[in-house]
This record gives sequence, C-alpha cells and structure tokens, in this order.
Amino acid sequence: PKRTRIHHLRELKERGERWPMLTAYDMYSAEIFDEAGIPVLLVGDSAANNVYGYDNTLPVTVDELMPLVKAVVRGTKRALVVADLPFGSYQVSAEQALATAFRFMKEGGAHAIKLEGGARFAPQVEALSGSGIPVMAHLGFTPQSEHALGGFRIQGRGDAGERLVEDALALQAAGAFSVVLEMVPADVAKRVTAELTIPTIGIGAGPDTDAQVLVWSDMAGMNRGRKPRFVKQYADLGGVLLDAARRFGAEVRGGEYPDAEHSYS
Ligand code: KIV
Ligand code: NA
Repeated sequence: PKRTRIHHLRELKERGERWPMLTAYDMYSAEIFDEAGIPVLLVGDSAANNVYGYDNTLPVTVDELMPLVKAVVRGTKRALVVADLPFGSYQVSAEQALATAFRFMKEGGAHAIKLEGGARFAPQVEALSGSGIPVMAHLGFTPQSEHALGGFRIQGRGDAGERLVEDALALQAAGAFSVVLEMVPADVAKRVTAELTIPTIGIGAGPDTDAQVLVWSDMAGMNRGRKPRFVKQYADLGGVLLDAARRFGAEVRGGEYPDAEHSYS
C-alpha cells in the first residue's frame, strides 16, 4: 500500500473531497486507524491528557512523546504520521524548532510535524519547510496557550476573525502544508478554507473545512469524562473495556477462568 503524501492531501482539496484525521498514541490504535483508511494520524501533545494523565498539554515533553511517535509509525503502512511539537520545544527560535523537528523525523520516523501559533511563528514554519520538514499549523484555540487565552474559549469571533485569516495566509506563505482550526466559528473556518490553497483541518470549526480531526479517545469513548460540544462519540470503548475487566475479574475470583479449554494438559 502506498503512503499518504502531502501532495495527496492538496489534491483532495482541489477535488473537493473531505478527509478524516485522528490522533493515535500507540501501535494498536495506529494499526486499526490505518486499516480503517484514515490517511493522516497525529501523535498529538494531547497525549499529555490522554496517555500521561496531566491536566493539560503544557507539561508533556519531547522525550515523553518520542516513544509514542515511534509506536504509531511502526503501526502504520499508509497513514502520514504527524508529530506534535510540545510546549516549549519550538517557541524560542527557528533553530530550536529545527532541532526538535529533526529529532521527531530522525529518531521518531515522523513524516511531518505540527506546531501551534499564528504569523509570529512564520520564521519557524519557513525554516522547517525549507529544510524538508512538512509543517501542519494550528490556529484558533491553541491548547498550549490556555493560560494566555483564558481557558477553553472559541477564538476568532468578531474582529479576531480577520486576524485568523491573516495568520492562516501568513503560515501558508511560510510553507505550511495544512492548518488545523480549533474551536472557531463555522463561518470563519469556511472563509479560511476558501482563501487558502492548503487544506484546513477542523476541530470544533463546523462542517466546511477540508478535513476533520478528533482525539481518538474522545471519538471512541475511552475518555469517559466531560466532552466539548464538538466531540461526537462513535463508540463506547471505555464501557466495553470496563465490562471486559469486570468479567475477567469475576471469572478469576469465581474459579471459572482458566478452564480446561485455556489450559495445557
Ligand atoms: O494534540 C492534539 O490532539 C491536537 C489535535 C486536537 C489537533 O492538536
Ligand atoms: Na496538540
């Protein structure tokens, strides 16, 4: 099977075909999403919450994300694997962004990287894309800036919509191959999508972006806590796993497992 390439994603936009993206943090999920035909998998810094149990994405490090990137790459044959640059690993300078991205590409085997932020990060995007590293940008609500943005809030309402369009155009000009739009009004996301030649990937950005992304544990019901409005849960894996663990526990306690069928004579 052929690996998804960034030019394929642009061709999909040109043909008006929407595509899905999911996060993945380990080999099994990556293998399953690859088989399901999800063309792009993101090893998000959302692993902070969804793998490591932190309250937000700020604490997670490159060293913590690296093994997850390796596992996801090993689990895929076709998906393009994007490694998310964590908080503090690219904001300092283009040089810092390059050093971090090289690690994810060389050690991790990632095919692209993602970073958060607007036009101020154009130098980073330019340095990376100019060095052969495909860059996915991320605008709107950017979780690494939670404390500056004042919590989980819609971004790009009113005049801020204009700034969002300008940021998106600046990142495209700097060489980004796509841009995530998180928690922005649907009409603003639609406008950005129309103005850009690179694909937009929405999460809480309405129906008119070129692609849609969800955190897999939200999408599949592994995360059993409160969910934002934009999350649609397609399965109750948390419930399935809870039931399986309870039945295993009960059968061990009751002496039903292992039986003859599951024992060696
Ligand atoms: O880390 C993440 O999961 C993300 C996506 C939600 C875009 O950045
Ligand atoms: Na992220």
